[in-house]
Amino acid sequence: MIKEHEILKINKDGWNKVADQFFEGTFNNLGYGTYSPDENELNLLGDVKGKVILEVGCGSGHTLEYLANKGARELYGVDFSTVQLNTAKRVTSYLSTPIHFIESPMEDMTELPEAYFDIAVSIYALGWTVNLDKTLKNVYDSLKSGGVFVFSWEHPVHSVLEYDEEKLYFRRSYVDEGPEKHESWRSVPIIMNYRKISTYINALVKAGFIIDQVVEETRIPENDNSKPSKWYSAEKARMICPDIIIKSHKL
Ligand SMILES: C[S@@+](CC[C@H](N)C(=O)[O-])C[C@H]1O[C@@H](n2cnc3c(N)ncnc32)[C@H](O)[C@@H]1O
Repeated sequence: MIKEHEILKINKDGWNKVADQFFEGTFNNLGYGTYSPDENELNLLGDVKGKVILEVGCGSGHTLEYLANKGARELYGVDFSTVQLNTAKRVTSYLSTPIHFIESPMEDMTELPEAYFDIAVSIYALGWTVNLDKTLKNVYDSLKSGGVFVFSWEHPVHSVLEYDEEKLYFRRSYVDEGPEKHESWRSVPIIMNYRKISTYINALVKAGFIIDQVVEETRIPENDNSKPSKWYSAEKARMICPDIIIKSHKL
């Protein structure tokens, strides 16, 4: 069985190689996933003006840019990819909002202040963790009492469905959780962790979070007829939401 630190090393190297393929987002909107409703519609974070906010797995920095433009007071972005963080620093360099970048695995965010953040957010990053309990404990400890945590991830059912010969089928078990090596993920080796929806929910509860909302919704543009041979496609999204979003808070 491959060890957590070995997966982290493979994934960090992988993300450093593919970082330029993940230059995502715009400063005037916060998207939770390809076909999910966005923050303008959902308003899960509420008014971020004056708030101190952590982003776990900040990638190219567009969410931080969005939050700064919405009036956040102070921002922290954590990511283990040096290349992603360099892009994030460049993307946000024109902003006057203080933004602290921490290069670290989310499983080990020891540099974060405790009970400091009003909001923690993670867009399509939490599911990469090799240790969900540890990561959620870090996020929980970093939040103030009443602090909100919102994350989005690929819907765990969408992750196990593949399209072939005009049919969707289970390419792997939904119930059999664990890491899986993707030799061909954007041409670099990378290891994904498969978890059920209940695993995320139970881990949040175990960490102490109160769950406020679970979003399983799709928004498909009218003229989008993309076929399910594409990993994220309109046709697949009509059958299964590609994304799941969970909002929770610390008591
Ligand atoms: C799909 S990208 C999302 C980036 C950003 N949140 C966005 O919405 O564009 C996932 C990010 O998670 C980071 N990541 C993956 N595993 C990580 C880990 N264990 N610890 C810290 N960052 C990780 C990757 O480097 C990458 O930047």
